Amino acid sequence: MWCWRWMISCVCINLWVSAGITIIKTSNAAEVVNLGVNWGGMASHQMLPSTVVQMIKDNGIKKVKLFESDSWTVSSLAGTGLEVMVAIPNDKLSRFSGKFDHAKDWVKNNVSKHMYDGGVNIKYVAVGNEPFLKSYNGSFMKTTFPALQNIQKALDEAGLGDKIKATIPLNADVYESANDKPSGGKFRDDIKDLMHQIVKFLHDNKAPFVVNIYPFLSLYQNQNFPFDFAFFDGGGKSINDNGVQYTNVFDANYDTLVYALKKAGVPDLKIIVGEVGWPTDGDKNATPDLAKKFYNGFLKRMANKKGTPLRPGHLDVYLFSLIDEDQKSIAPGDFERHWGIFRYDGQPKFPIDLTGQGHEKYLVGAKGVEYLTKQWCVFNKEKSNEMNTVPDDMNYACSLGDCTALGYGSSCNNLDVYGNISYAFNMYFQMQDQDVQACDFHGTAKLTTENASTGSCLFPVQIVNAGERMEFMTLTSTVLLSLIVLAFL
Ligand SMILES: *[C@@H]1O[C@H](CO)[C@@H](O)[C@H](O)[C@H]1NC(C)=O
Ligand SMILES: *[C@@H]1O[C@H](CO)[C@@H](O)[C@H](O)[C@H]1NC(C)=O
Ligand SMILES: *[C@@H]1O[C@H](CO)[C@@H](O)[C@H](O)[C@H]1NC(C)=O
Ligand SMILES: *[C@@H]1O[C@H](CO)[C@@H](O)[C@H](O)[C@H]1NC(C)=O
Repeated sequence: MWCWRWMISCVCINLWVSAGITIIKTSNAAEVVNLGVNWGGMASHQMLPSTVVQMIKDNGIKKVKLFESDSWTVSSLAGTGLEVMVAIPNDKLSRFSGKFDHAKDWVKNNVSKHMYDGGVNIKYVAVGNEPFLKSYNGSFMKTTFPALQNIQKALDEAGLGDKIKATIPLNADVYESANDKPSGGKFRDDIKDLMHQIVKFLHDNKAPFVVNIYPFLSLYQNQNFPFDFAFFDGGGKSINDNGVQYTNVFDANYDTLVYALKKAGVPDLKIIVGEVGWPTDGDKNATPDLAKKFYNGFLKRMANKKGTPLRPGHLDVYLFSLIDEDQKSIAPGDFERHWGIFRYDGQPKFPIDLTGQGHEKYLVGAKGVEYLTKQWCVFNKEKSNEMNTVPDDMNYACSLGDCTALGYGSSCNNLDVYGNISYAFNMYFQMQDQDVQACDFHGTAKLTTENASTGSCLFPVQIVNAGERMEFMTLTSTVLLSLIVLAFL
């Protein structure tokens, strides 16, 4: 009997959730500039996809770029009208470069499946992600273009080729300038021939060139980079390129690509900025204030449809990114886990006005997010004369939990030595879903219900991981269903 009740309450929850979604109005949708966001899934604790989709809609954002084609995530976008870019990760490229049948299967199972009336508005398939990044040492050089061709051909054969285009999101490091000005723009020598073939293919198929542009990285990677040139407020360095003035690195970088495309024989190829944004922690220039400055300047130009000197008008862009992801590799830097315009729990971090008017207002946060218990794991100061195991324990905690807020210039860099230890212990404890055994550390740790946050340094309480919960629910309903079936036999 209890099985039935369980099933019914599950159905009720679903009905209740969909009713909720239709009632909530989309605020400000009319005035928000036409924008996309990147929605990555590398967080240890995920919100429900439906929660994230609602948050995207509540803020008037119209386009979503994904890094995979996870069926649960993509399905959650059905019926929303949001324009979607699904993706194939780099490590899958070799699968599709070799066998056309694999590409056909993939399109059938990951794209066609969603293309029913009222389904998902898929517009692009991203084949790989920045596959020609210099740090990949050419690993994806042979597979990327054949995979692109096979996926587009499979889309064409499925009758979707007119509506859905395959493309490759590329890092701006695929091109460079011969004279440090946009007019010197050309594709990188080691991939020049390949890039010329790719852009011709994109052009023939009416597909866009997708490029990721990061003014933050220009500043991060070069101590002498002129600070103001990373933003849009002018006042700093400017570049004079044959009479055209460039006052910010974004425009200069974008137009370097325009020149490179011209030299490759496709001057009118459509460009989409696949990623642009500013992180809020993990470096001295990664702060909420500077992120706010960057986005305000950027969005104001978007609202005015200013474009760049060579491509005036509306620019197609996807902000990077929607939510912080605590499982991302920090090889590029500690800031990698802090690109979100929302925190890990879908709460806004700083004022950002998506209408481009520069008003001091916050985004609409995620609704109905469930948190774990309000408790923290901290260093027990009574054990301050038994600290010989602490350094190793701290390293271990930080290797699994995210300690990137502790570094130089980051939000928790001012903690004392005990604060540092507590931070590491808590991040590990929260990562382990507050398992009491994860708050021991050779007896030097203790639980507390007193908020351990200080000043700008947030000691987070994790959210209930929707990923795990859904797996659990699916598993439980499968088991229950089998039991019911058995009972009837
Ligand atoms: C995408 O398609 C492949 C078949 O080609 C399938 O094995 C896979 O499960 C699909 N991926 C997702 C995330 O649904
Ligand atoms: C690329 O080469 C460098 C240096 O040889 C190496 O450290 C790195 O791991 C390589 N990266 C990949 C993705 O193979
Ligand atoms: C806390 O940890 C950070 C990062 O490891 C370090 O830079 C800082 O010096 C530490 N503070 C103290 C007081 O040990
Ligand atoms: C703990 O305090 C910080 C402010 O210091 C606050 O932002 C945060 O919401 C508090 N956490 C909880 C779970 O109440």
